[in-house]
Amino acid sequence: MAKLRHSRLQAKKLSTVTLVLSMLFMLTVVLLMLLGLGIFSLPINGDDSPPNDLTSYRRMASERGKGVGKRGEQWTEVLSWEPRAFLYHNFLSREECEYLINLAKPYMKKSTVVDSKTGQSKDSRVRTSSGMFLRRGQDKIIMDIEKRIADYTFIPVENGEGLQVLHYEVEQKYDAHFDYFLDEINTKNGGQRMGTVLMYLSDVEEGGETIFPAAKGNVSAVPWWNELSECGKKGLAVKPKMGDALLFWSMRPDATLDPSSLHGLQ
Ligand SMILES: *[C@@H]1O[C@H](CO)[C@@H](O)[C@H](O)[C@H]1NC(C)=O
Repeated sequence: MAKLRHSRLQAKKLSTVTLVLSMLFMLTVVLLMLLGLGIFSLPINGDDSPPNDLTSYRRMASERGKGVGKRGEQWTEVLSWEPRAFLYHNFLSREECEYLINLAKPYMKKSTVVDSKTGQSKDSRVRTSSGMFLRRGQDKIIMDIEKRIADYTFIPVENGEGLQVLHYEVEQKYDAHFDYFLDEINTKNGGQRMGTVLMYLSDVEEGGETIFPAAKGNVSAVPWWNELSECGKKGLAVKPKMGDALLFWSMRPDATLDPSSLHGLQ
């Protein structure tokens, strides 16, 4: 009798186990069906941010403009609102800077300025540097950099000009000027320039600053104030550092020209 009760209990236990197992099997089949039909998807890489969330956009953007070499820590700072100027640290890697320099070196020519009457290039004493133009999308590395500029400025690559590599020797300069045109010919020929990104390709011992003499606000509040040359202290100055990118806008957000964007290099 005792033996019989025992085996009945065992049978009951067994059927519960079978039931649970078969239910689990059913669930697996249903899950596989949902996956197969694309009704249900498993999270990949733990990325569960919504499609138009900015974090996923940023991750995508950084994948695209990756470029060559390892970049140092990247961060941006607002330098001024009049002009609208921002500094992006470690925008380029050392390898990219060296690549640009070596690419341009054999083709460097005396820089010119644009003639406001004819729209042609002309020699000028206000600009004594040498330089050369790269074609837009010239190669993979250039394309990567252009993409990164587009992501930084929110201006599509198609709206950008080709990169220009410039070289300033000691004593060479570009007197204070605007990057926007004030004449009709040039404004029609290619349109107005909205903003400029200056990327510094080498470190310098002294000087070489980009200066905004018409900047409003406290120009001595920049962290590198004490390291600036005497000329650099005449306005808002940016000290060149290899890989850094200075973005400034020649136009205000309402598309009017911003005279505080006056700037020079020396
Ligand atoms: C400008 O900034 C510097 C550095 O932060 C500060 O010492 C100085 O008092 C400021 N000047 C004015 C007029 O706010």
